[in-house]
Amino acid sequence: MAQWSYPRPPAGEITPRSAWLSRRRLLAGAAMGVAGSLVAPAGATTLQTRPGPFQATEKPTPLSDVTHYNNFYEFGLDKGDPAALSAGFAARPWTLSVEGLVAHPRVWDIDQLIAAMPIEERLYRMRCVEAWSMVIPWDGFPLASLLAQAEPLSSARYVAFESIVRPAQMPGQRAGLDSLEWPYVEGLRLDEAMHPLTLLAVGLYGEILPNQNGAPVRLVVPWKYGFKGIKSITRIRLVEKRPPTTWNRMNADEYGFFANVNPEVDHPRWSQASERVIGAGGFFGGARRKTQMFNGYGEQVAALYGTMNLRSNY
Ligand code: MTE
Repeated sequence: MAQWSYPRPPAGEITPRSAWLSRRRLLAGAAMGVAGSLVAPAGATTLQTRPGPFQATEKPTPLSDVTHYNNFYEFGLDKGDPAALSAGFAARPWTLSVEGLVAHPRVWDIDQLIAAMPIEERLYRMRCVEAWSMVIPWDGFPLASLLAQAEPLSSARYVAFESIVRPAQMPGQRAGLDSLEWPYVEGLRLDEAMHPLTLLAVGLYGEILPNQNGAPVRLVVPWKYGFKGIKSITRIRLVEKRPPTTWNRMNADEYGFFANVNPEVDHPRWSQASERVIGAGGFFGGARRKTQMFNGYGEQVAALYGTMNLRSNY
C-alpha cells in the first residue's frame, strides 16, 4: 500500500483528539446552561487520524478544488454555490440515527460517534457521473463498523440514507428554487454497505468536513459514481426492499440504483469512457484519463456482482 504524499501539518500542530474532545466537553457544558446546545470550540477542527487501507497512488486533488467544485443541490446548482452559500449551515449539534431492521437502534451525537470510532485517513479516487474525477484524502470510518454495532436483523437487505432538510440554511431547498425532491435519499445493498471500502467520512485533509463537502457526515463509495455519496446524513435505515434514490427518482433512464463506474456503459447524453482530472493541467483542457471499470476498485468489489449484467443493472 503506498503511503500518502499530500502535505500534512507538522505533528506538533495536530491537536490530539483527547485534548480537543475534553475542550469540546468543557464548552458543551458551558453552552448547555446558556443555549442548551453543543458548540464546537474555535480551532477544534483537526481530526486525529491514523493511516487506513486503500491508499490511491495518484496525486491528491488540491484542497481548494475539493472545496470549490462541488455538487450539493441543497445550496444551488452551480459548482461554486456550495462553497459560497453554505457558511451559515450549522453542522453541530447533529444527530445521526441508525434504525429500522436492527437489534440496537440508536441516535448518535456526531461528536460522540467520532470519539467512538477510530478515524482513518484513506486516499480514494472519486469519479463523478459528469465525467470528471478527483483524488481525495477522506477521514472517516467504515460504515460496516457502525452497522455492526446496530446488528442488522436477518431480514435487512438494503440500507437507506437520508440527508437533512433545512431550508432556512439551505437556499436550494427554498420554495420556488428547489431542483430535487427533498430530502436527498440514497441506498446501498447491505453487502455493498458492509464492504470495507465503504466509508462514512467526517473529514478530509485531516480537518472536519467543510460544509460544502457534506458536513458533518457523508457517505463515500469510491467504485460508484459520486452521486451515491450522500451528504449531511441524518438517518440510516436498514430495510427489506430496495429504497428509492434521488437521481433514479428524477430520471430513471439516466441514473440507476447501482451506479457502478463503468466506462463501457455511456450515460445517454455523454460518454463515460474517459474523465477530466480536476486540478491537474488546467480546468478545461489538460489532463484527461481513461475511466477504469469500478473506478479502479474492481479487484476489491467485482465479486459483489458475480455474473450480474452490469449493462442493464447500471
Ligand atoms: N448529497 C446531497 N445531499 N445533495 C447533493 O446534491 N450531490 C452528489 C453527492 N452527494 C449531492 C449529494 C453528487 S452529484 C456528487 S458528484 C457528490 O456529492 C459531490 O461530492 P463533493 O462535492 O464532496 O465532491
